[in-house]
Amino acid sequence: MKSFYKLKVADIQKVTQDCAVVSFEVPDDIQDAFTFKQGQYLTLKHDINGEELRRSYSLCSSPLDKEWKIGVKKIEGGRFSGFVNDVLQVGDTLEVMPPDGKFYVEIDSEQKRQYAAFAAGSGITPIYSIIKTHLTAEPKSTFKLFFVNQTTASIILKEELEALKNQFMDRFEIFYFLTKERRSVPLFNGRIDEEKLDILFKTVCDPAALDHSFICGPEAMIHLIDDRLRKSGAGKDQVHFELFGTSADAGKAQQKELAASLKDKHCKVTIIEGGVGLDFDMEQGSNNVLDEALANAADLPFACKGGVCATCKAKVIEGDVKMLLSYGLEEDEKEQGFILTCQAIPTSDKLVVDFDI
Ligand code: FES
Repeated sequence: MKSFYKLKVADIQKVTQDCAVVSFEVPDDIQDAFTFKQGQYLTLKHDINGEELRRSYSLCSSPLDKEWKIGVKKIEGGRFSGFVNDVLQVGDTLEVMPPDGKFYVEIDSEQKRQYAAFAAGSGITPIYSIIKTHLTAEPKSTFKLFFVNQTTASIILKEELEALKNQFMDRFEIFYFLTKERRSVPLFNGRIDEEKLDILFKTVCDPAALDHSFICGPEAMIHLIDDRLRKSGAGKDQVHFELFGTSADAGKAQQKELAASLKDKHCKVTIIEGGVGLDFDMEQGSNNVLDEALANAADLPFACKGGVCATCKAKVIEGDVKMLLSYGLEEDEKEQGFILTCQAIPTSDKLVVDFDI
């Protein structure tokens, strides 16, 4: 199981009014554990007002620079993002889990690839890491970025993107879309929708020529662009996305229905972790496996609790569960019996879940 390490905050830069880029100092003796791929994220843990909170934030630096930076946008009512933006100071210590995530493709310096990226708001953080790394390490590859923001002032990492554009002038293009400020070309006003995609794909970006596309933003945007790229012939392994903006509340209505239909049925749960078994009883449909196990004093890995990060992944050895959300699992993992325990609701009399596999 991945553990948390105490890391010192080396620097904090306000890159927009409501977004801070935090750099961590990673001591030499743990740098191996913190080796990362472009597009991966860090999970942070901190006690805020007496409650332990965990959040995952994408690394917005390139692994080539050996820098560990995350971008944290302040969300209205967001306790962790508010803490990072308003309270956290240089020299403070946070508990940080080593990098994780599947939002990347391997670098191949021999390849001449055409990439496209679609980002909205803070979705630029992993995308920036991806673009910088591929352009630097693959001298023949090109990148086109389609980036949606509300206003020019709210564009996160704008200076860094412009610097990349200057450095890789003939291999990197950026198309900014603004939703709350008028641009002179109507195409660049408002979100990316079907009509805009049609125009973009007929003019500045041939989807059939793309080797890989990366999408990071809200779910609706991801589905729209993913669908459109697939219709243009892109394979499943050529479209990569990272969902920003799902919450632990998604799927709650589905769970309520399940709880009502399984009322008064019980499940004997066994959790295997670190070679040790933990047994407890719970009502079927009443809660997810992870929360119930944590309430029974288990020490299990988790981060987003929203079905995205897959930190809580485990395998069902016996019994059945109903999954609420499963963004973080591949189809073949589901077929092999893997579940996201934060989204798995027991629906059988007995359930054995193994975290060690
Ligand atoms: S904790 Fe992130 S998917 Fe379960």
